[in-house]
Amino acid sequence: MKIGLFLIIILLLSVLFLYLKNYWLINKNATYHAMKVSSYFDSNKINDYQNIDFVDRQNFAQEISSFLDKNYTSEEINLIYEYLSDSNIQKLLNLNYIDLKDFYQISNIDVLKINDYLEYQNIHKIPIKEAVTEVNLHLNEEFYSNVSTIKFPDSYTILVNKYNALPSNYYPKDLTNIGNTSLKMRARASRSLENLIADALTNNIVLIPFSAYRSYDYQEKLYNKYLETDPIQIVDTYSARAGHSEHQTGLACDIRSDEEIDTLTPSDYKWLLDNSYKYGFIVRYPKGKSKITGYKEEPWHLRYVGETHSKKIHDLNITFDEYYDLYLNNR
Ligand code: DAL
Ligand code: ZN
Repeated sequence: MKIGLFLIIILLLSVLFLYLKNYWLINKNATYHAMKVSSYFDSNKINDYQNIDFVDRQNFAQEISSFLDKNYTSEEINLIYEYLSDSNIQKLLNLNYIDLKDFYQISNIDVLKINDYLEYQNIHKIPIKEAVTEVNLHLNEEFYSNVSTIKFPDSYTILVNKYNALPSNYYPKDLTNIGNTSLKMRARASRSLENLIADALTNNIVLIPFSAYRSYDYQEKLYNKYLETDPIQIVDTYSARAGHSEHQTGLACDIRSDEEIDTLTPSDYKWLLDNSYKYGFIVRYPKGKSKITGYKEEPWHLRYVGETHSKKIHDLNITFDEYYDLYLNNR
């Protein structure tokens, strides 16, 4: 009886082994076969074909032939298909050979910018992963140079900064008052902020909103008013130019402590840093990140992004700009 069971197990394992071996062989030979039946077959490259993992995609044979012509090795070709997005693969097919060795593991690369990443890394002496994100955010260019107009301004996760502007005629259609104040935010953000303020109060923290939705024209006036007292280089560290303010999205709100005019006490600030994500908010301009955000620390400026994203941003401890490039920017 025991021997019978033993034999059955041996039999099953042998079948499994043969199946896996066959699968492996078929997979290894699949690229060779795909090339053989195509018009791109080159008998000098049979070795390469046998080392390239087959990928079931249109134009596979043509692409493999093109990569081999560009002198990519079979190992590199396997890495390209394992790690690069389809759009990066398409771009790569139109470029001369690039050594991607340091880049395969970095999910947010754009192969068209490899030289920019390396140059930026060389200048700033930072890890290549950081250089990639910062170049993607255009930090290798002057603030306000090469400004793009935001295409979907109603999205809760839009990135508004010194390189991405809202159209001057954009205004959110669902603005509602925050509690019984005259300040307005988009409905979801407004309700969430009311909850945040109410829960803070149960912890004896009195938070008062003092600026929320601002129109393009209002932001323009505000920025120009600041220019009457400060030079532009200074104003740009604390005020957004018109079209570049999150306040125009209806998703931002400045809040103060009861005992302050326009900021938070350190303990209230700490409560916000620890808790605002539970309500879908992030502290948008945190300490030590002005190189990325372009602004000095603003403890009072909250931005609504929704609870899923606010939690991730809080856990990762990164700015919204970085988060956007890493997780929200389709590429
Ligand atoms: N103070 C922030 C950056 C704004 O003007 O939107
Ligand atoms: Zn603000």
